[in-house]
Amino acid sequence: MNAPFRPDAFSVGAVPIPIAEAAIRFEKVGKVFPTRRGQGAVTALEGIDLSVPRGAILGVIGRSGAGKSTLIRLVNGLERASSGRILLEGEDVTGLTEAGWRARRRSTGMIFQHFNLLSSRTVFDNVALPLEIAGTPKGEIIARVARLLDLVGLADKRGRYPAELSGGQKQRVGIARALATDPKVLLCDEATSALDPETTQSILALLKRVNRELGITILLITHEIPVIKEICDRVAVIEGGRIVEEGETFAVFTRPRHPTTARFVETVTGVELPPHLTERLRTEPREGDNALLRITFTGENATAPVISRLSSVVGVDVNILAGRIDAIAGQPFGSLLVSVPARDPEYSAVLGALKSLELKAEVLGHVS
Ligand SMILES: Nc1ncnc2c1ncn2[C@@H]1O[C@H](COP(=O)(O)OP(=O)(O)O)[C@@H](O)[C@H]1O
Ligand SMILES: [Mg+2]
Repeated sequence: MNAPFRPDAFSVGAVPIPIAEAAIRFEKVGKVFPTRRGQGAVTALEGIDLSVPRGAILGVIGRSGAGKSTLIRLVNGLERASSGRILLEGEDVTGLTEAGWRARRRSTGMIFQHFNLLSSRTVFDNVALPLEIAGTPKGEIIARVARLLDLVGLADKRGRYPAELSGGQKQRVGIARALATDPKVLLCDEATSALDPETTQSILALLKRVNRELGITILLITHEIPVIKEICDRVAVIEGGRIVEEGETFAVFTRPRHPTTARFVETVTGVELPPHLTERLRTEPREGDNALLRITFTGENATAPVISRLSSVVGVDVNILAGRIDAIAGQPFGSLLVSVPARDPEYSAVLGALKSLELKAEVLGHVS
């Protein structure tokens, strides 16, 4: 069993994860697909350097066609790299033969967007399938499948067929099946993209339990930022077959460096300026104007009573225009739009107070 992953054990961004601590490691990996008639080729992945720390949940986010599925399929040999190396638990698997991959796949489970269950098999028999293929003795299969169905909350559905299940239940069967051979790594290809938001939440909670309680490393790919926000310790952003940003989820969400990352995260971290204010916004203040500030709260200070501190300490009226407080990878994060008088000494006092509270404040403009 793997040691539980401690998100604080790895620092932000560019600090490389040692080979010994990586469950999955891509080194300068490229993938080129030849086209049908042999004219030209499609470069699906280029120069991929990425490590998934043992015990972590790492999410790869990107738009359709970015190369996500190709990337994840390289990890269990469903695709072969055109260049570079792939290491699993430190072992170079790049040149494995098909027979080598068959043995390897037992230590890597995978779940899919459309579940890929066998419609002619019951829930029990779907979960048992990988064990039958592995030649596990019957008695052991019965005990193991029962435990897995308990884990995913489907003990009472063992005799049902996939057509009799909801989407969420089907994905639970998929998860139980993926865990049947006791893998060290679970690969998830858009596992919640076919589910409604509420069911998505419950499947994400189950994946988190699988990670934390069984110590299974998870590599997931998604085009949905809430999935990353909810359960990923680390995130990599992929665009045009390249990783454009990677790091701890909280750090990447609160300080995105690449414009694509910024566009993804603003939908979950930003607060919008109401349109009637956007139209009236001026760069330079005029007599009697108010300044519009976006205040960002992270970690500890997200729960500090900022507004009341500003009002009482500085003696300035602070108007809240919009705001949200949320959790990113389990850490509080908030964003507030406020308006304050743009005249001194009050304005300088507000900026000073924000600074002393270690809050990030951005001046969006001025309105009368
Ligand atoms: N088997 C294939 N043959 C040719 N091109 C492919 C194949 N699989 C994927 N591609 C191409 O590789 C690129 C990345 O695809 P994919 O990995 O499926 O992206 P995503 O999962 O992010 O939507 C796309 O341009 C796609 O058309
Ligand atoms: Mg895909």
